[in-house]
Amino acid sequence: MVKIAPSILSADFADLKNEIIRLDEAGADLIHIDVMDGNFVPNLTIGPAVVKAMRPYTGLPFDVHLMVSRPDDMIPWFANAGADIITVHAEVCPHLDKTLAAIRKLGKKAGVSLNPSTSENVLEYIMDNLDLVLVMTVNPGFGGQSFMENQLTKIAKIREMIGSGAVALEVDGGINAMTGAEAVAAGADILVAGTAVFAGGDYRRNIDALR
Ligand code: DX5
Ligand code: ZN
Repeated sequence: MVKIAPSILSADFADLKNEIIRLDEAGADLIHIDVMDGNFVPNLTIGPAVVKAMRPYTGLPFDVHLMVSRPDDMIPWFANAGADIITVHAEVCPHLDKTLAAIRKLGKKAGVSLNPSTSENVLEYIMDNLDLVLVMTVNPGFGGQSFMENQLTKIAKIREMIGSGAVALEVDGGINAMTGAEAVAAGADILVAGTAVFAGGDYRRNIDALR
């Protein structure tokens, strides 16, 4: 069964507490938190203090997507703030194997995200330290962009690499009912969606439509 991870990048930031509660009540499986540092991507969003402030309002796993240039420094901050999954970008981790091991050592699930231009080959030698792969289907930085169809091939290749084992395959960017179905057909099992979950305000209906 496919899991839905609403991205709070599209939430009302002045009302995050209630947005989290509403997503939980609407049937979300995970809360996707987009952390941007204004350097790796041209946008600046959420820090560990905000993650910590949200933590008491849901029991759902916090799926923290680090779009930052120096994730190694920040991993402990988000682990302590209440993250359950911490995902780093392969493009900024020269010692990816060590970075993933450090995340697991903190008791968290370790994820790797790939930009649209990054090959799935970077995953080949790190499978043993990996809990999740996050395929970006837009160039990260902003919500509301169009799904890149050429990433479907990559999703299918990664599904072949991981088989039906314990590694989750998550897709992020431009996901709606149509592109979500394409991603799932290619092998994805977690769909991140910002625009499609928050549009119109009926979160339950939107989540059901994605599922
Ligand atoms: C993009 C973020 C996504 C984004 C998705 O940089 O990583 O999580 O919020 O938003 P939509 O669903 O609007 O493409
Ligand atoms: Zn994201």
